[in-house]
Amino acid sequence: MQELTMTRPDDWHLHLRDGAAMADVLPYTARQFARAIVMPNLKPPVTTTAAAQAYRQRILDALPAGLDFEPLMTLYLTDNTSPEEIRRAKASGIVHGVKLYPAGATTNSDSGVTSLARCAAALQAMQDVDLPLLIHGEVTHQHVDVFDREKFFIDEQLIPLRRQFPDLRVVFEHITTKEAAQYVSSAEGRIGATITAHHLLYNRTRLFTDAEGRTGMRPHFYCLPVLKRETHRQALLTAATSGSPRFFLGTDSAPHPKGEKESACGCAGCFTAASAIEMYAMAFEEAGALDKLEAFASHHGPDFYGLPRNAGRVRLRRAEWRLPAEIKFGATSLVPLGAGELLPWTLAA
Ligand code: NCD
Ligand code: ZN
Repeated sequence: MQELTMTRPDDWHLHLRDGAAMADVLPYTARQFARAIVMPNLKPPVTTTAAAQAYRQRILDALPAGLDFEPLMTLYLTDNTSPEEIRRAKASGIVHGVKLYPAGATTNSDSGVTSLARCAAALQAMQDVDLPLLIHGEVTHQHVDVFDREKFFIDEQLIPLRRQFPDLRVVFEHITTKEAAQYVSSAEGRIGATITAHHLLYNRTRLFTDAEGRTGMRPHFYCLPVLKRETHRQALLTAATSGSPRFFLGTDSAPHPKGEKESACGCAGCFTAASAIEMYAMAFEEAGALDKLEAFASHHGPDFYGLPRNAGRVRLRRAEWRLPAEIKFGATSLVPLGAGELLPWTLAA
């Protein structure tokens, strides 16, 4: 196949940050995607509808003329989120989900939930008004191996939570394991999952080697949940290309200044917004399933969120291009995932 034309895709999990840095990364997403679910883990986090409205306006103000893009806002769930705030969020029409970060699980999650029991009233309100819960699904106990934290979350937290709120719409964000893929495929009720391009393309060996197998730590491949072993990548590829409407595109593109990644304590997050749909095309082609890309990237997400599919179309051409080594990021720069490497697919302008 030399060319692929499809419905314009959306990104159902994205970090845009704020201020000048946001203004620098936003055009990369807006060029590719018509809409994106914008994560609320700013400093301080977006915990109120008023804050989400203001953040949304800052995004729209930063959008270059001629780019057609709609930010879909989220609230950051805390132990103190009130049912009234949930109802305000739903009534606003601009908030499309509430994000659960277990406290300390990932970048900027210090204000996250310390115990789901504390959020019962907010979760009940979300179920009542039908506002989806978006979950970073990892336990945070220090004694649980980092590579097992998603698997443990399913039995310890997710299954009990869904038993308590059986009608709550849930997105299991950026799944990384065969256990999560199996759970989402077979669970009852209203559940979906996003899958990143990097978890479809890379396994954990890539954290410690380059593409040719030369050893050395590769901090730009470090994200949370961390890349897993090859069997898990294969299970994710199977899920994404299965045609199941429960799986959809979410890049989890998470920009960080170069210096904070290339550091003695490098932070988690991979920037893929500049090459996202091309990377997904690579992964789907590897699985011999390019014909399944459109549904995963452009149909299943809006169907799950109860939004219309996009009317516009995009075209991918088989034509190589090289990712830049660095991208301007406010006063600093960031290194995109796969910097300097060749990509086989090009998104036509
Ligand atoms: C995200 C970030 O940098 O905000 N990092 C990441 O590794 N994915 C947070 C998150 O989604 O976990
Ligand atoms: Zn994320």
